[in-house]
Amino acid sequence: MKFYTNKKICIILGTRPEIIKMSPIIKACKKQKIKFFILHTNQHYSESLDKIFFKELRLPQAKYNLKIGSGSHAEEVGRMLINIEKILVKETPNIVLVEGDTNTVLAGALAAAKLNIKLGHIEAGLRSYFRKMPEEINRILTDHCSDFLFAPTKNAKNILLKEGISSKKIFITGNTIVEAVHQNLKLANKKSKILSRLKIQKENYFLVTIHRSENVDKIEGLKEILEGLDLIYMRFNLPIIYPVHPRTKKMIKKFKLRISKNIKLIEPVGFLDFLKLEANAKLILTDSGGVQEEACILQVPCVTLRENTERPETLEVKGNILSGCDSRKILKCVLKMINKKRNWKNPFGSGDASKKILKLFLKNAK
Ligand code: UD1
Ligand code: UDP
Repeated sequence: MKFYTNKKICIILGTRPEIIKMSPIIKACKKQKIKFFILHTNQHYSESLDKIFFKELRLPQAKYNLKIGSGSHAEEVGRMLINIEKILVKETPNIVLVEGDTNTVLAGALAAAKLNIKLGHIEAGLRSYFRKMPEEINRILTDHCSDFLFAPTKNAKNILLKEGISSKKIFITGNTIVEAVHQNLKLANKKSKILSRLKIQKENYFLVTIHRSENVDKIEGLKEILEGLDLIYMRFNLPIIYPVHPRTKKMIKKFKLRISKNIKLIEPVGFLDFLKLEANAKLILTDSGGVQEEACILQVPCVTLRENTERPETLEVKGNILSGCDSRKILKCVLKMINKKRNWKNPFGSGDASKKILKLFLKNAK
């Protein structure tokens, strides 16, 4: 189906998960010949967190790259806001789309809302109810200044309704990550040689990612998590593969933490290699939002190294469990999940979120 329209969409993104989750929307815009341009804040700029995804996912280059880079929250959001506003004034898009809960999302949302440009928030209505998590503030503020709230699940819609947001603005669409996984898994299975490169076998290793600031920015928490990984190795004697996010790498160095030789630290990998690692893991340990979703979609048991999650659907289907950061609790949760029957249903929709989002947006945006 084609959506004939003259409306112009501005797609704002800036970090690894936004590039991945916006990719189905960008592809759908291209296919449907919808006018759009990409505004990249470059909050993520390292090759392995940025360019590799444009290449692998065959995305067009961003029309604008703000080269914001890293900084404090105020520095990142402030610089982005000033620069995004200039581009929106020049380009006058009919609509702005943001996805998720990063500083890029907040800056994009504020810039659009203050210029009275229609704003659509993909992945609206997620709440951890943990205000110390920087993303929680970004989500709440973005939801409350959006004109279109694309909730991935019924649960997310109910959260928004309880906060007083009009039901007219809320649409349940599923999450675009389902398409991103389905569009790329076959390719990953065909192309990725990561298992042989790391000398690991199907369902015979653990996969780990940790990068949340509340987990890695304090020595006690990070040390405890790493001890938990050691306990897992001692119990199972299986490889632990850990692609390290640059934030965590920086902190491991700063705190002079010794990493046990049982944990295989590698650089962050591209989406195809990561999908292959996820799909074939015995179990995934993570504090990532997107990785919790992907584990659930791929039916791989997941232990989330947090006390809360804004993805309760993964707990409800019993594909995920919260361990917090206590090393013994982490091991206990792994023991509980490791032989879990992989038969739960994916709660994040049937893989047509991007189509639904574009259709709703273009139909409703004046
Ligand atoms: C950001 C998001 C987080 C998201 C994550 C995805 C916010 C508040 N946080 O966290 O929600 O889950 O991205 O991965 O928006 N760095 C590099 N290279 C890069 C990017 C960052 O080396 O390309 C290092 C820098 O030392 C930087 C640190 O990582 O100071 C943190 O980067 P930042 O973008 O502020 O936050 P993330 O932890 O990446
Ligand atoms: N990812 C990747 N390579 C890696 C680690 C993660 O491609 O080495 C992908 C993963 O498949 C998921 C996304 O990055 O789609 C999650 O991003 P991240 O954990 O950085 O952020 P969050 O989802 O927590 O915001």
